[in-house]
Amino acid sequence: MDPVEEIKSRIDIVDLLREYMPLQQAGANYRARCPFHQEKTPSFMVSQPKQIWYCFGGCNDGGDIFKFVMKQEGVDFAESLRILAQRAGVQLQHQDPNVSSRKTRILDVLDHAAHAYAASLKKSPRAELARRYTQERGIGELIDDFLLGYSPSDGDVMAQYLLSKKFALQDIIDAGLAVKRERGYGSYDRFRGRLMIPIHDLYGHVVGFGGRILEEKEGSGSKYLNSPQTLAYDKSHIVFGLDRAKQEIRKQGFCILVEGYMDFFAVYQSGMQNVVASSGTALTADQVRIIKRFTTTFLFAFDADAAGGNATVRGIEIALSEGIRVKVIQLPREANGMPLYKDPDECIRKDPQAWRRAVQDAKGFLDFHFERVIVPCSRSRDPYEKQKAVRAFFSVLRIVPERITKDHWIKIVAHTLDISESVLWEEIGSRQDDIAQRAKEQKQPSGVSTPNREEAILSLLVADPTLVDSIRLIIDPEMFSNEVYRSVCAALYKEGSVHHLNGVDRLTMYAEYAYSTLDEQERKRTLSLLAVQMREQALKSRIQELRALMESAERSGDKEAVDKYAQEFSNLVTTGYTIKE
Ligand code: UTP
Ligand code: MN
Repeated sequence: MDPVEEIKSRIDIVDLLREYMPLQQAGANYRARCPFHQEKTPSFMVSQPKQIWYCFGGCNDGGDIFKFVMKQEGVDFAESLRILAQRAGVQLQHQDPNVSSRKTRILDVLDHAAHAYAASLKKSPRAELARRYTQERGIGELIDDFLLGYSPSDGDVMAQYLLSKKFALQDIIDAGLAVKRERGYGSYDRFRGRLMIPIHDLYGHVVGFGGRILEEKEGSGSKYLNSPQTLAYDKSHIVFGLDRAKQEIRKQGFCILVEGYMDFFAVYQSGMQNVVASSGTALTADQVRIIKRFTTTFLFAFDADAAGGNATVRGIEIALSEGIRVKVIQLPREANGMPLYKDPDECIRKDPQAWRRAVQDAKGFLDFHFERVIVPCSRSRDPYEKQKAVRAFFSVLRIVPERITKDHWIKIVAHTLDISESVLWEEIGSRQDDIAQRAKEQKQPSGVSTPNREEAILSLLVADPTLVDSIRLIIDPEMFSNEVYRSVCAALYKEGSVHHLNGVDRLTMYAEYAYSTLDEQERKRTLSLLAVQMREQALKSRIQELRALMESAERSGDKEAVDKYAQEFSNLVTTGYTIKE
């Protein structure tokens, strides 16, 4: 079987799309807010029987599962084929020119490397230290599940191995696994003597690695070394662990965000599998949007130190401006406010109960922020300090749209810092214009494009062929402006239904989209009205056409033609249609 057909037979469009957005059943079809633009009323339709989708809102575009993945992931057809083949468990022939793109080759290299690193961690005598390390960190049981590995410590073992598997050196370099020597020939491996943590994309492809040193001592390099940005690894897009967590995130209704790989593993092992890691980089808006496909509630569990706090605030700001509901998990502290544990990993290993409680008691982000920036300043007599604290707090409070929430916090801040409320209102309003501007930029046109009248008529007929007779005498198939519509109309008149004509799927879905709330009577009324308008329009243009034709026939002295057109002209005018000039 053709791989495209094979994949289509194994992946149901509704199952696939459900991972990206909530779908609501509407008759035989499903409906959703379009994931490709902001809209209030759902204009994205999915047909299960036909296995296609269509957006009647801003996009006016649709297609099958491949088209969806192309658009959603911003990839070409070859890549969508690869993504869906993996999901469907369909083996692709590598000679297939469709799949031999550069990115595909890089993914292939990475996949081979991941398995080789994994084999080395399990079997190599020289990986003894690495094996012991995984035991000490308590992640021994995750080795198979997460394909953890070990990169041999000498020069270019991995590159040599991959070359022996017939991969090209350039692809190995492009995959971020080898670095070209500046002098002389050849390359050396980027990762040497490290515990290898594969980074996967949403579909489970290995796109890169994080490599941790086994001993923290002088000269062993930075604690973690990560793959560089490559064709396969777009750092602003990939969220560590999301491929594993996505189902559970949807099920639990929230996502726990941690900073480190080790925090991810600890939380995952504690039984909370709805966790992802930002892997030390600042959370990006793209990452937030990707997680948002699975939930709109984020619980931040960043490190207890100042850096973790700052990262949390930045993360919160980005999440909030993407419309996320944000909470903060606070690790237990001593009475004097000193953190007991430096990160979720340590907390879970030492006191799993305390971790559970912390998750349960996750605070609203404003409580968190208030404690962080306002409380430490509460006894300050320095106006400059107060000013700084207020600014920091307001940078977050400002994003909140509700005035009542603002009022609530302004009162508390005023009281805590001994500042008058009116000054605080001025302060928070002073950048209000920025916000209004930002809101305006975010708001995209949400108006649904009106299909033309011809489409509307045909959709109604396709959806309910019993209506055909009510317009048979009003509309002639020839009145339609294109061949597809003419043949749809002709088929409906002749056979009372249409099945295998091009363009019909879109019409059926349009009917579901636009007319499913109308009852039969209303549909009939709408149809007659549209049909009469269409007839008038068609006659009017034909009359104009005839005038032009008659003129030119007269000029060229073709009397026969003039008579023929004049006859048609008078027929049209006398069948009840009057020309208004
Ligand atoms: P952490 O130091 O908090 O990571 O840095 P961790 O996972 O808790 O590390 P352990 O427990 O000491 O093993 C958070 C994340 O920042 C990135 C990594 O993704 C790390 O997981 N990072 C950190 C780097 O990329 N490079 C570094 O040198 C350090
Ligand atoms: Mn740690």
